[in-house]
Amino acid sequence: MKTVRDFASAKKDCRQIVMSTAYDAWSARLLVEAGVDCLLVGDSAMMVVHGEKDTLGATVELMAVHTRAVRRGAPDLFIVADMPFLSVRKGKAHAAGAAGALLRAGAQAVKIEGVRGHLDVIQHLVESGIPVMGHLGLLPQSVNVLGGYAVQGRDVAAAARLQQEAAELQDAGAFATVLECVPQRLSRIVTHDLDIPTIGIGAGRHCNGQVLVFHDFLGLNPGFRPRFVRRFADGAALVRTGARKYAAAVRAGKFPAPRESF
Ligand code: KIV
Repeated sequence: MKTVRDFASAKKDCRQIVMSTAYDAWSARLLVEAGVDCLLVGDSAMMVVHGEKDTLGATVELMAVHTRAVRRGAPDLFIVADMPFLSVRKGKAHAAGAAGALLRAGAQAVKIEGVRGHLDVIQHLVESGIPVMGHLGLLPQSVNVLGGYAVQGRDVAAAARLQQEAAELQDAGAFATVLECVPQRLSRIVTHDLDIPTIGIGAGRHCNGQVLVFHDFLGLNPGFRPRFVRRFADGAALVRTGARKYAAAVRAGKFPAPRESF
């Protein structure tokens, strides 16, 4: 995918959108070679790359560093960068400055969690020439208000609220939205009701696409096994085995061999 128009045509043609997170150039290059459609420079970088317990430590500067690296690895792919915690809560000018920095670093769009209290900011960014992807359902930046990473929209009132927010997001000009950790019955209704595509994570198979965290679907994070993640490779075992072989070869005096020496 190269532009926002490709998202609209994917929905129209019933083509599933494949999105992965990426944080650096080498993994972005491999994801391009694997044929994923678009990349998300997620603030999940704070957890899977920087080892923090949540995403709140992300800053615009750090997201820009990751975005620049991902752009180098994926020069032609559509890249979305996460607007970090609180960056849309300090007024339109601040949000436009932050989003502008991410676009200058190489993103083509920004992703914003939630709509309540900053719908006007979303509309302002779109009107300023910055494509916005929404993010509804479980909002990791609100983990302290939510009290954890639980499935959202389970009861009738919460489901109705999410449907309302999705409609408002579309009206504000968002070109797509992530739905995170919502029952598939609800994501099916939202996906049906919206003209813009939905991209699910823990939201079932009725969305117009799926996004997963790179380290999760490659099994690089062995202790983390939520229900919605499928491990498509045992990356941790691969890394451990390779590192053990390297250490053993060095200790046994078998690396470097003559052919690996000058
Ligand atoms: O930061 C991230 O990786 C995300 C995905 C979970 C959608 O927002």
